[in-house]
Amino acid sequence: MPARTRCAVRAPRRRARGQHGRTGHRAGRRAAPVVSLALVGALLAACSPGGDTTPTAAGQPHVEVFTWWASGSEKLALDALSSTFAEQHPGIRFDDAGVAGGAGSAAKDVLDSRMAAGDPPDTFQVHGGAELADHVAAHDLRPLDDVAADLGLAAVVPQTVLAATQVDGVTYAIPSNVHRANVVWANTSVLQAAGLAPTTAFASLDEWFVALEAVEETGATPLALGADWTQVHLLEAVLLAQLGAEGYRGLWDGSTDPMSAEVTAALGTFSRLVGYSDEDRASLDWEDMTFRVAEGEAAFMIMGDWALPAFRAADIPIGNDVLWAPAPGTSGSFGLVVDAFAIPGPATNVEEAVSWVSTIGSAEAQTALSSVKGSIPARTDVSVQALHPYQLHSTAALERDELVPSLAHGTAVDGATLQEITQAVGSFTEGRTSVAQLQRALASALGED
Ligand code: GAL
Repeated sequence: MPARTRCAVRAPRRRARGQHGRTGHRAGRRAAPVVSLALVGALLAACSPGGDTTPTAAGQPHVEVFTWWASGSEKLALDALSSTFAEQHPGIRFDDAGVAGGAGSAAKDVLDSRMAAGDPPDTFQVHGGAELADHVAAHDLRPLDDVAADLGLAAVVPQTVLAATQVDGVTYAIPSNVHRANVVWANTSVLQAAGLAPTTAFASLDEWFVALEAVEETGATPLALGADWTQVHLLEAVLLAQLGAEGYRGLWDGSTDPMSAEVTAALGTFSRLVGYSDEDRASLDWEDMTFRVAEGEAAFMIMGDWALPAFRAADIPIGNDVLWAPAPGTSGSFGLVVDAFAIPGPATNVEEAVSWVSTIGSAEAQTALSSVKGSIPARTDVSVQALHPYQLHSTAALERDELVPSLAHGTAVDGATLQEITQAVGSFTEGRTSVAQLQRALASALGED
Protein backbone atom coordinates (compact mmCIF):
# COMPACT_ATOMS: atom_id res chain seq x y z
CA MET A 1 0.00 0.00 0.00
CA PRO A 2 1.80 3.15 -1.10
CA ALA A 3 1.68 5.94 1.44
CA ARG A 4 0.38 9.30 0.28
CA THR A 5 1.84 12.68 0.98
CA ARG A 6 -0.33 15.53 2.06
CA CYS A 7 0.71 18.92 3.22
CA ALA A 8 -1.97 21.12 4.65
CA VAL A 9 -0.60 24.34 3.15
CA ARG A 10 -3.03 25.42 0.48
CA ALA A 11 -3.14 28.11 -2.13
CA PRO A 12 -4.50 31.45 -0.94
CA ARG A 13 -8.26 31.45 -1.13
CA ARG A 14 -11.18 33.82 -1.22
CA ARG A 15 -14.23 33.57 0.89
CA ALA A 16 -17.67 34.67 -0.10
CA ARG A 17 -19.01 37.66 1.75
CA GLY A 18 -22.42 36.78 3.02
CA GLN A 19 -24.97 37.77 5.54
CA HIS A 20 -24.38 38.30 9.24
CA GLY A 21 -23.66 35.10 11.08
CA ARG A 22 -25.48 35.53 14.33
CA THR A 23 -28.78 33.92 13.45
CA GLY A 24 -27.84 30.56 12.03
CA HIS A 25 -25.37 28.47 10.20
CA ARG A 26 -25.94 29.59 6.63
CA ALA A 27 -24.06 32.84 6.93
CA GLY A 28 -21.04 33.57 4.74
CA ARG A 29 -17.92 35.40 5.78
CA ARG A 30 -15.52 37.90 4.30
CA ALA A 31 -12.47 37.21 2.16
CA ALA A 32 -9.48 36.24 4.22
CA PRO A 33 -5.93 37.57 4.12
CA VAL A 34 -3.36 35.51 2.28
CA VAL A 35 -1.29 33.02 4.29
CA SER A 36 2.07 34.68 5.07
CA LEU A 37 5.24 33.47 3.41
CA ALA A 38 6.89 33.01 6.80
CA LEU A 39 4.09 30.73 7.91
CA VAL A 40 4.16 28.78 4.66
CA GLY A 41 7.92 28.29 5.13
CA ALA A 42 7.49 27.05 8.66
CA LEU A 43 4.72 24.73 7.65
CA LEU A 44 6.54 23.36 4.64
CA ALA A 45 9.46 22.60 6.92
CA ALA A 46 7.04 20.73 9.16
CA CYS A 47 5.57 18.72 6.29
CA SER A 48 7.39 15.66 5.17
CA PRO A 49 6.26 12.89 2.86
CA GLY A 50 4.63 9.80 4.31
CA GLY A 51 5.95 6.46 3.16
CA ASP A 52 9.64 7.30 3.13
CA THR A 53 10.94 3.93 4.09
CA THR A 54 14.72 3.65 4.02
CA PRO A 55 15.68 1.24 1.26
CA THR A 56 17.17 -1.88 2.80
CA ALA A 57 18.08 -5.37 1.76
CA ALA A 58 15.31 -7.58 0.45
CA GLY A 59 14.23 -10.19 2.93
CA GLN A 60 15.00 -8.02 5.93
CA PRO A 61 12.45 -8.36 8.72
CA HIS A 62 9.97 -5.52 8.45
CA VAL A 63 6.70 -4.26 9.82
CA GLU A 64 4.01 -2.34 7.97
CA VAL A 65 2.52 0.29 10.27
CA PHE A 66 -0.84 1.82 9.30
CA THR A 67 -1.71 5.24 10.74
CA TRP A 68 -3.20 8.59 9.72
CA TRP A 69 -0.19 10.40 11.13
CA ALA A 70 1.01 11.18 7.65
CA SER A 71 1.52 14.93 7.35
CA GLY A 72 2.78 17.98 9.22
CA SER A 73 3.13 17.69 12.98
CA GLU A 74 1.54 14.23 12.99
CA LYS A 75 4.16 12.84 10.63
CA LEU A 76 6.80 14.24 12.98
CA ALA A 77 5.08 12.35 15.79
CA LEU A 78 5.18 9.11 13.80
CA ASP A 79 8.85 9.81 13.03
CA ALA A 80 9.49 10.05 16.78
CA LEU A 81 7.95 6.60 17.21
CA SER A 82 9.79 5.04 14.30
CA SER A 83 13.12 6.45 15.56
CA THR A 84 12.55 4.92 18.98
CA PHE A 85 11.58 1.67 17.25
CA ALA A 86 14.84 1.75 15.24
CA GLU A 87 16.80 2.15 18.48
CA GLN A 88 14.97 -0.66 20.22
CA HIS A 89 14.72 -3.04 17.22
CA PRO A 90 17.50 -2.08 14.82
CA GLY A 91 17.06 -5.22 12.73
CA ILE A 92 13.45 -4.51 11.75
CA ARG A 93 12.60 -2.16 8.91
CA PHE A 94 9.71 0.25 9.53
CA ASP A 95 7.34 0.47 6.55
CA ASP A 96 5.07 3.51 6.75
CA ALA A 97 1.56 2.88 5.45
CA GLY A 98 0.22 6.30 6.44
CA VAL A 99 -3.02 7.62 4.92
CA ALA A 100 -3.40 11.35 5.59
CA GLY A 101 -6.61 12.94 6.81
CA GLY A 102 -7.40 14.24 10.29
CA ALA A 103 -8.93 11.80 12.78
CA GLY A 104 -8.49 8.96 10.31
CA SER A 105 -11.19 10.44 8.07
CA ALA A 106 -9.61 8.78 5.01
CA ALA A 107 -7.57 6.06 6.70
CA LYS A 108 -10.47 4.23 8.33
CA ASP A 109 -12.12 3.37 5.01
CA VAL A 110 -8.81 2.22 3.54
CA LEU A 111 -8.21 0.04 6.58
CA ASP A 112 -11.67 -1.50 6.35
CA SER A 113 -11.16 -2.30 2.65
CA ARG A 114 -7.80 -3.88 3.34
CA MET A 115 -9.23 -5.95 6.18
CA ALA A 116 -12.12 -7.07 3.99
CA ALA A 117 -9.74 -7.94 1.13
CA GLY A 118 -7.59 -10.12 3.41
CA ASP A 119 -4.69 -7.69 3.08
CA PRO A 120 -4.34 -6.32 6.62
CA PRO A 121 -1.37 -4.19 7.66
CA ASP A 122 0.88 -5.76 10.29
CA THR A 123 -0.29 -3.24 12.87
CA PHE A 124 -2.68 -0.29 12.78
CA GLN A 125 -3.57 2.83 14.72
CA VAL A 126 -6.91 2.61 16.49
CA HIS A 127 -8.80 4.61 19.09
CA GLY A 128 -9.35 2.94 22.41
CA GLY A 129 -13.00 2.44 23.34
CA ALA A 130 -15.93 1.71 21.04
CA GLU A 131 -13.82 1.91 17.88
CA LEU A 132 -11.55 -0.87 19.13
CA ALA A 133 -14.52 -2.95 20.29
CA ASP A 134 -15.99 -2.54 16.82
CA HIS A 135 -12.81 -3.95 15.25
CA VAL A 136 -12.79 -6.84 17.68
CA ALA A 137 -16.37 -7.67 16.71
CA ALA A 138 -15.70 -7.38 12.98
CA HIS A 139 -12.17 -8.70 12.59
CA ASP A 140 -9.78 -11.20 13.99
CA LEU A 141 -7.45 -9.18 16.25
CA ARG A 142 -4.55 -10.64 18.16
CA PRO A 143 -4.95 -10.59 21.98
CA LEU A 144 -2.10 -8.58 23.48
CA ASP A 145 -2.37 -9.43 27.18
CA ASP A 146 1.13 -10.90 27.15
CA VAL A 147 2.61 -7.70 25.69
CA ALA A 148 0.69 -5.55 28.18
CA ALA A 149 1.94 -7.76 31.03
CA ASP A 150 5.56 -7.61 29.82
CA LEU A 151 5.28 -3.83 29.71
CA GLY A 152 3.71 -3.78 33.17
CA LEU A 153 0.89 -1.57 31.89
CA ALA A 154 -1.63 -2.57 34.56
CA ALA A 155 0.48 -0.83 37.20
CA VAL A 156 1.23 2.37 35.29
CA VAL A 157 -1.68 3.19 32.96
CA PRO A 158 -4.80 4.82 34.46
CA GLN A 159 -7.67 2.34 34.72
CA THR A 160 -10.01 4.18 32.33
CA VAL A 161 -7.31 4.35 29.67
CA LEU A 162 -6.42 0.70 30.16
CA ALA A 163 -10.09 -0.30 29.97
CA ALA A 164 -10.34 1.49 26.62
CA THR A 165 -7.73 -0.91 25.22
CA GLN A 166 -9.59 -4.01 26.38
CA VAL A 167 -12.74 -5.77 25.26
CA ASP A 168 -14.35 -8.16 27.74
CA GLY A 169 -11.20 -8.00 29.84
CA VAL A 170 -8.86 -8.96 26.98
CA THR A 171 -6.23 -6.47 25.79
CA TYR A 172 -6.43 -5.87 22.04
CA ALA A 173 -4.39 -2.67 21.71
CA ILE A 174 -1.38 -1.04 23.33
CA PRO A 175 -1.95 2.65 24.17
CA SER A 176 0.61 5.17 22.96
CA ASN A 177 -0.77 8.45 24.28
CA VAL A 178 -3.81 10.31 25.56
CA HIS A 179 -5.31 13.38 23.91
CA ARG A 180 -7.91 15.76 25.26
CA ALA A 181 -10.71 16.62 22.84
CA ASN A 182 -12.47 19.50 24.61
CA VAL A 183 -10.02 22.37 24.21
CA VAL A 184 -10.70 25.89 22.94
CA TRP A 185 -7.86 27.80 21.30
CA ALA A 186 -7.82 31.53 20.62
CA ASN A 187 -5.65 34.14 18.95
CA THR A 188 -5.07 36.97 21.42
CA SER A 189 -4.53 39.65 18.75
CA VAL A 190 -7.95 38.96 17.27
CA LEU A 191 -9.51 39.13 20.74
CA GLN A 192 -7.76 42.39 21.53
CA ALA A 193 -8.79 43.91 18.20
CA ALA A 194 -12.36 43.14 19.23
CA GLY A 195 -11.84 44.90 22.57
CA LEU A 196 -11.86 41.62 24.47
CA ALA A 197 -9.65 40.57 27.35
CA PRO A 198 -7.10 37.98 26.20
CA THR A 199 -8.78 34.98 27.76
CA THR A 200 -10.27 31.67 26.72
CA ALA A 201 -11.64 30.82 30.14
CA PHE A 202 -15.38 30.99 29.44
CA ALA A 203 -17.43 29.43 32.20
CA SER A 204 -20.45 29.14 29.93
CA LEU A 205 -21.44 29.10 26.30
CA ASP A 206 -23.34 32.35 26.88
CA GLU A 207 -20.13 34.11 27.87
CA TRP A 208 -18.47 32.71 24.80
CA PHE A 209 -21.24 33.97 22.54
CA VAL A 210 -20.63 37.52 23.78
CA ALA A 211 -16.99 37.20 22.68
CA LEU A 212 -17.90 35.57 19.34
CA GLU A 213 -20.29 38.42 18.62
CA ALA A 214 -17.64 41.04 19.42
CA VAL A 215 -15.23 39.37 16.99
CA GLU A 216 -17.96 39.14 14.36
CA GLU A 217 -18.30 42.91 14.50
CA THR A 218 -14.63 43.41 13.63
CA GLY A 219 -15.00 41.39 10.41
CA ALA A 220 -12.65 38.60 11.52
CA THR A 221 -13.97 35.05 11.56
CA PRO A 222 -15.16 34.27 15.08
CA LEU A 223 -14.87 30.48 14.86
CA ALA A 224 -12.61 28.32 12.68
CA LEU A 225 -14.39 25.17 11.57
CA GLY A 226 -13.63 22.44 9.05
CA ALA A 227 -15.18 19.43 7.36
CA ASP A 228 -17.25 16.52 8.67
CA TRP A 229 -15.40 15.19 11.72
CA THR A 230 -14.34 18.66 12.91
CA GLN A 231 -18.04 19.57 13.00
CA VAL A 232 -18.81 16.47 15.05
CA HIS A 233 -15.90 17.48 17.27
CA LEU A 234 -17.55 20.87 17.85
CA LEU A 235 -20.92 19.20 18.42
CA GLU A 236 -19.51 16.93 21.12
CA ALA A 237 -18.09 19.95 22.98
CA VAL A 238 -21.49 21.65 22.84
CA LEU A 239 -23.35 18.52 24.00
CA LEU A 240 -20.89 18.15 26.88
CA ALA A 241 -21.28 21.80 27.86
CA GLN A 242 -25.06 21.75 27.76
CA LEU A 243 -25.86 18.28 29.07
CA GLY A 244 -23.03 18.06 31.62
CA ALA A 245 -20.75 15.01 31.93
CA GLU A 246 -23.50 12.67 33.09
CA GLY A 247 -26.07 13.72 30.51
CA TYR A 248 -23.45 13.63 27.76
CA ARG A 249 -22.26 10.16 28.70
CA GLY A 250 -25.89 9.08 28.87
CA LEU A 251 -26.35 9.80 25.18
CA TRP A 252 -23.95 6.96 24.39
CA ASP A 253 -25.11 4.49 27.06
CA GLY A 254 -28.82 5.06 26.47
CA SER A 255 -29.64 6.87 29.72
CA THR A 256 -30.10 10.30 28.09
CA ASP A 257 -32.97 10.66 25.64
CA PRO A 258 -31.58 12.11 22.39
CA MET A 259 -35.06 13.52 21.67
CA SER A 260 -35.10 15.52 24.93
CA ALA A 261 -35.55 19.31 25.07
CA GLU A 262 -31.98 19.62 26.41
CA VAL A 263 -30.60 17.98 23.29
CA THR A 264 -32.81 20.23 21.12
CA ALA A 265 -31.32 23.24 22.91
CA ALA A 266 -27.77 21.93 22.42
CA LEU A 267 -28.36 21.42 18.70
CA GLY A 268 -29.71 24.96 18.49
CA THR A 269 -26.49 26.19 20.11
CA PHE A 270 -24.49 24.13 17.63
CA SER A 271 -26.39 25.80 14.80
CA ARG A 272 -25.58 29.26 16.15
CA LEU A 273 -21.92 28.37 16.45
CA VAL A 274 -21.70 27.06 12.89
CA GLY A 275 -23.05 30.46 11.84
CA TYR A 276 -19.86 32.06 13.15
CA SER A 277 -17.65 29.95 10.86
CA ASP A 278 -16.53 30.36 7.25
CA GLU A 279 -18.59 29.05 4.36
CA ASP A 280 -15.71 27.05 2.95
CA ARG A 281 -15.60 24.85 6.06
CA ALA A 282 -16.37 21.64 4.15
CA SER A 283 -13.02 21.92 2.37
CA LEU A 284 -10.91 22.32 5.51
CA ASP A 285 -9.16 19.85 7.79
CA TRP A 286 -8.02 20.60 11.31
CA GLU A 287 -4.61 21.89 10.21
CA ASP A 288 -6.31 24.51 8.03
CA MET A 289 -8.41 25.61 10.98
CA THR A 290 -5.27 25.86 13.08
CA PHE A 291 -3.58 28.02 10.44
CA ARG A 292 -6.53 30.39 10.37
CA VAL A 293 -6.31 30.87 14.12
CA ALA A 294 -2.50 31.07 14.01
CA GLU A 295 -2.64 33.70 11.27
CA GLY A 296 -5.24 35.80 13.04
CA GLU A 297 -7.90 35.15 10.42
CA ALA A 298 -10.09 33.45 12.99
CA ALA A 299 -10.42 34.09 16.70
CA PHE A 300 -11.33 30.68 18.15
CA MET A 301 -11.46 27.01 17.42
CA ILE A 302 -12.49 23.93 19.37
CA MET A 303 -9.94 21.25 18.63
CA GLY A 304 -8.10 18.49 20.42
CA ASP A 305 -4.67 19.14 21.83
CA TRP A 306 -2.94 17.71 18.74
CA ALA A 307 -3.23 21.39 17.70
CA LEU A 308 -0.46 22.31 20.15
CA PRO A 309 2.47 21.14 17.94
CA ALA A 310 0.81 22.60 14.83
CA PHE A 311 0.81 26.03 16.45
CA ARG A 312 4.37 25.52 17.60
CA ALA A 313 5.49 24.46 14.11
CA ALA A 314 4.16 27.78 12.91
CA ASP A 315 6.27 29.52 15.57
CA ILE A 316 3.22 30.72 17.45
CA PRO A 317 3.87 31.08 21.18
CA ILE A 318 1.21 29.15 23.08
CA GLY A 319 0.10 30.93 26.22
CA ASN A 320 1.01 34.28 24.70
CA ASP A 321 -0.15 34.74 21.12
CA VAL A 322 -2.41 31.69 21.30
CA LEU A 323 -4.35 30.76 24.41
CA TRP A 324 -6.10 27.54 25.36
CA ALA A 325 -8.59 26.41 27.98
CA PRO A 326 -11.17 23.67 28.42
CA ALA A 327 -13.91 24.25 25.82
CA PRO A 328 -16.48 26.76 27.12
CA GLY A 329 -18.72 25.23 29.76
CA THR A 330 -16.76 21.95 29.93
CA SER A 331 -14.20 22.72 32.63
CA GLY A 332 -13.88 19.73 34.96
CA SER A 333 -14.53 17.22 32.15
CA PHE A 334 -11.79 15.62 30.09
CA GLY A 335 -12.84 14.42 26.62
CA LEU A 336 -10.85 11.23 26.45
CA VAL A 337 -9.08 10.21 23.21
CA VAL A 338 -6.78 7.18 23.48
CA ASP A 339 -4.41 6.47 20.58
CA ALA A 340 -3.35 2.84 20.45
CA PHE A 341 -2.03 0.14 18.13
CA ALA A 342 -3.53 -3.28 17.40
CA ILE A 343 -2.42 -6.33 15.42
CA PRO A 344 -4.72 -8.17 13.00
CA GLY A 345 -4.72 -11.93 13.61
CA PRO A 346 -3.83 -12.65 9.97
CA ALA A 347 -0.98 -10.08 9.86
CA THR A 348 1.98 -11.23 7.78
CA ASN A 349 4.75 -10.09 10.13
CA VAL A 350 3.34 -10.88 13.54
CA GLU A 351 6.60 -11.08 15.45
CA GLU A 352 7.71 -7.71 14.09
CA ALA A 353 4.29 -6.23 14.85
CA VAL A 354 4.62 -7.42 18.44
CA SER A 355 7.99 -5.65 18.56
CA TRP A 356 6.29 -2.49 17.26
CA VAL A 357 3.53 -2.48 19.91
CA SER A 358 6.14 -3.28 22.57
CA THR A 359 7.97 -0.13 21.55
CA ILE A 360 4.68 1.79 21.55
CA GLY A 361 4.08 0.84 25.17
CA SER A 362 7.61 1.68 26.30
CA ALA A 363 8.41 4.75 28.39
CA GLU A 364 10.94 5.95 25.76
CA ALA A 365 8.43 5.91 22.89
CA GLN A 366 5.70 7.53 24.95
CA THR A 367 7.96 10.41 25.95
CA ALA A 368 9.25 10.84 22.40
CA LEU A 369 5.74 10.81 20.94
CA SER A 370 4.10 13.20 23.36
CA SER A 371 6.97 15.69 23.18
CA VAL A 372 5.97 16.36 19.55
CA LYS A 373 2.25 15.46 19.63
CA GLY A 374 0.60 17.67 22.28
CA SER A 375 -0.75 14.58 24.01
CA ILE A 376 0.40 13.07 27.28
CA PRO A 377 1.89 9.61 27.75
CA ALA A 378 -0.57 6.84 28.59
CA ARG A 379 1.99 5.64 31.16
CA THR A 380 2.11 7.63 34.37
CA ASP A 381 5.61 6.46 35.30
CA VAL A 382 7.38 8.69 32.77
CA SER A 383 8.47 12.21 33.57
CA VAL A 384 6.42 14.90 31.89
CA GLN A 385 8.44 17.79 33.30
CA ALA A 386 10.16 18.46 29.99
CA LEU A 387 6.82 18.70 28.16
CA HIS A 388 4.97 21.94 27.36
CA PRO A 389 3.12 23.67 30.26
CA TYR A 390 -0.14 22.80 28.49
CA GLN A 391 0.75 19.13 28.79
CA LEU A 392 1.52 19.48 32.50
CA HIS A 393 -1.96 20.93 32.88
CA SER A 394 -3.40 18.07 30.84
CA THR A 395 -1.59 15.48 32.97
CA ALA A 396 -3.12 16.96 36.12
CA ALA A 397 -6.53 17.23 34.43
CA LEU A 398 -6.51 13.55 33.42
CA GLU A 399 -6.08 12.65 37.05
CA ARG A 400 -8.49 15.20 38.47
CA ASP A 401 -11.26 15.67 35.90
CA GLU A 402 -14.24 13.57 35.02
CA LEU A 403 -13.27 11.48 32.00
CA VAL A 404 -15.88 11.43 29.26
CA PRO A 405 -15.63 9.48 25.99
CA SER A 406 -15.03 11.42 22.79
CA LEU A 407 -17.72 11.06 20.12
CA ALA A 408 -15.64 12.20 17.14
CA HIS A 409 -12.61 10.11 18.09
CA GLY A 410 -14.02 6.66 18.56
CA THR A 411 -14.23 6.41 22.34
CA ALA A 412 -18.01 6.76 22.61
CA VAL A 413 -19.70 4.99 19.69
CA ASP A 414 -18.92 2.38 17.04
CA GLY A 415 -17.85 3.29 13.52
CA ALA A 416 -21.23 2.87 11.83
CA THR A 417 -22.97 5.07 14.40
CA LEU A 418 -20.28 7.72 14.12
CA GLN A 419 -20.55 7.65 10.35
CA GLU A 420 -24.31 8.13 10.52
CA ILE A 421 -23.97 11.02 12.94
CA THR A 422 -21.23 12.59 10.81
CA GLN A 423 -23.43 12.42 7.71
CA ALA A 424 -26.37 13.93 9.56
CA VAL A 425 -24.21 16.77 10.87
CA GLY A 426 -22.85 17.36 7.34
CA SER A 427 -26.35 17.57 5.86
CA PHE A 428 -27.27 20.04 8.55
CA THR A 429 -24.26 22.32 8.14
CA GLU A 430 -24.77 22.29 4.37
CA GLY A 431 -28.22 23.71 5.03
CA ARG A 432 -30.09 20.65 3.79
CA THR A 433 -31.78 19.77 7.09
CA SER A 434 -33.24 21.54 10.11
CA VAL A 435 -32.37 21.24 13.80
CA ALA A 436 -35.41 18.99 14.22
CA GLN A 437 -34.22 16.72 11.42
CA LEU A 438 -30.71 16.66 12.83
CA GLN A 439 -32.10 15.62 16.19
CA ARG A 440 -34.15 12.82 14.67
CA ALA A 441 -31.12 11.64 12.72
CA LEU A 442 -29.02 11.65 15.90
CA ALA A 443 -31.69 9.63 17.72
CA SER A 444 -31.95 7.24 14.81
CA ALA A 445 -28.17 6.72 14.69
CA LEU A 446 -28.29 5.96 18.41
CA GLY A 447 -31.13 3.52 17.89
CA GLU A 448 -33.52 5.65 19.94
CA ASP A 449 -36.01 6.73 17.31
C1 GAL B 1 -7.41 11.96 16.48
C2 GAL B 1 -6.20 11.19 16.94
C3 GAL B 1 -5.07 12.15 17.19
C4 GAL B 1 -4.86 13.05 16.00
C5 GAL B 1 -6.16 13.67 15.55
C6 GAL B 1 -6.08 14.54 14.31
O1 GAL B 1 -8.45 11.11 16.16
O2 GAL B 1 -6.53 10.51 18.11
O3 GAL B 1 -3.89 11.46 17.51
O4 GAL B 1 -4.28 12.27 15.03
O5 GAL B 1 -7.11 12.68 15.31
O6 GAL B 1 -5.71 13.82 13.19
